[in-house]
Amino acid sequence: MHKSFRNNLNGAQTDTSAIAGLPPALVALLVQLLALSVVLLLVATALLQQWRIYEWAVLQGLIAASISYPLKLSIWWIPIQLFFTPALVATLALALSPLWFFAGFLFIVLIYGKTYQTQVPLFFSSQEAAQALASLLPSQKNFSFIDLGCGYGGLLNKLAEVRPDGKFHGIEAALLPCLLGKFQEMVSTSDKTIRWGDFWQHNLSSYDVVYAYLSPVPMQALWGKACREMRPGSIFISNSFMIPGIRPDKIVELSDFTESALYLWQIRKDTE
Ligand SMILES: C[S@@+](CC[C@H](N)C(=O)[O-])C[C@H]1O[C@@H](n2cnc3c(N)ncnc32)[C@H](O)[C@@H]1O
Repeated sequence: MHKSFRNNLNGAQTDTSAIAGLPPALVALLVQLLALSVVLLLVATALLQQWRIYEWAVLQGLIAASISYPLKLSIWWIPIQLFFTPALVATLALALSPLWFFAGFLFIVLIYGKTYQTQVPLFFSSQEAAQALASLLPSQKNFSFIDLGCGYGGLLNKLAEVRPDGKFHGIEAALLPCLLGKFQEMVSTSDKTIRWGDFWQHNLSSYDVVYAYLSPVPMQALWGKACREMRPGSIFISNSFMIPGIRPDKIVELSDFTESALYLWQIRKDTE
């Protein structure tokens, strides 16, 4: 993620659709259905009966994209809205078995879990982030570290390699990455545990370091959770995403392909 894009994301904070409270993916789907209804209405009233199906699809895409703009869906939704139905029509022309679509859907659900709701997709901390993070770990033995949304535990593996004296934990909501992480945990000798679950339901009071690489969306609420639950003296580190309005105690710029940074906050008695 380029620096300007990251700043943009931090500034944007949320994907602010005009239909408050609904996840943007759901708003986008409702817009698609609305645009489809308009096209079907036009077809029913004989206005478009001379058109071919792909022409209907292009018109439907244009309507969906133009409704998305005033609804303030983020800019990257516009091409998705535009090409969604034309791509669907083109794919149907391949006459694939419906099982392929079901398998694709299942695969995406297993890998991405509830991304449509959490707005936190799966991507991984870079090697540079792992190295910088290792240098920020406490010097005392047996410190405990948790990665909130740990994916398959790749970052935990790297850190456990550098600091075998630490206790590493991860919690992940998506099933497939978590199962992969569990499998690695079984064959690994390092002090590492990965569990399947929702980190919002997990208490953070027992950790010396809490790490998050998520998205701008949960950061404000996550800071509230960290302030309520984390012990004074422990540290909260976010990769790439700032907590709005809260100045970090330390920023470590990374020279990875995303040109991101690690933001570090030390929890104090009066932190809020
Ligand atoms: C950007 S990835 C980061 C992966 C890993 N921490 C790393 O740095 O390489 C974020 C992960 O958080 C997971 N996630 C998002 N919300 C979650 C939640 N409420 N509970 C558990 N995991 C969650 C997503 O499924 C995704 O795998």
